[in-house]
Amino acid sequence: MAKNRRIRPLSDSVLLEGRSLWSVNANPGVAIRGESLRKFRGVEHRRWDPNRSKLAAALLRTRNNPSDLLPQAGSTVLYLGAGHGTTISHLHDHLCGSGNQKSGRLIAVDLAPRCLRDLTYLAEQRPGLVPVLGDARKFETWGVLLPRKVNWLFQDVAQAGQVEIFTSAVRRFLSQDGIGLLSLKAASERHREASERDVFASAIAKLSQELELIEHINLTGFEDQHALFVVRRR
Ligand SMILES: C[S@@+](CC[C@H](N)C(=O)[O-])C[C@H]1O[C@@H](n2cnc3c(N)ncnc32)[C@H](O)[C@@H]1O
Repeated sequence: MAKNRRIRPLSDSVLLEGRSLWSVNANPGVAIRGESLRKFRGVEHRRWDPNRSKLAAALLRTRNNPSDLLPQAGSTVLYLGAGHGTTISHLHDHLCGSGNQKSGRLIAVDLAPRCLRDLTYLAEQRPGLVPVLGDARKFETWGVLLPRKVNWLFQDVAQAGQVEIFTSAVRRFLSQDGIGLLSLKAASERHREASERDVFASAIAKLSQELELIEHINLTGFEDQHALFVVRRR
């Protein structure tokens, strides 16, 4: 017989059931990547897989309150390195909800046209999601979409210079009381001979020069060679 697992809401649209994360499906009946759909109290949720989403892995791993890693529902956020939209879709569930009933705005930037195709398709069913074909390093071309600073900025670009790209974006787009989350892939940095530990230590040193480092979350086991850093502006 299945055990009754403890259910803990992390927001009004994200819940933790035991060690499984679920988000209220903003597009009922539709799974994005074959994830399970399940009703909790009559409301359809999608399983948010921590092996496919570094944000989900961080929500499970943080030593602090996981709710603090999520943006405020209905706010405007910036996501750099949106990929094919796996994490973006769950973030949209939380931030916007069905028909964008929460009035959120999710600016999702990616360099790859093939990712933009998937994101554009996703955005057709998910109002509030704004896909942008752009380079995270060249925000003069798309920064106009964000006339005001945001309270939540996430970066997952997996390319060399991740820390520098992130600190520039934080300076330009993150508000004083907002949080920035950097997913760092050690293997993407140029100095491949450097150990993972050295890459993370160097990232901590660089981030700490100008930002308050709130937490360093090790994602090994969900995403090897990855860490997620949570920062605030000083
Ligand atoms: C690891 S994938 C992102 C996965 C996604 N965050 C998720 O959780 O579903 C990294 C993405 O960053 C994009 N990327 C790499 N360099 C970039 C840059 N300079 N600007 C914008 N996107 C970039 C790649 O095209 C790729 O889609």
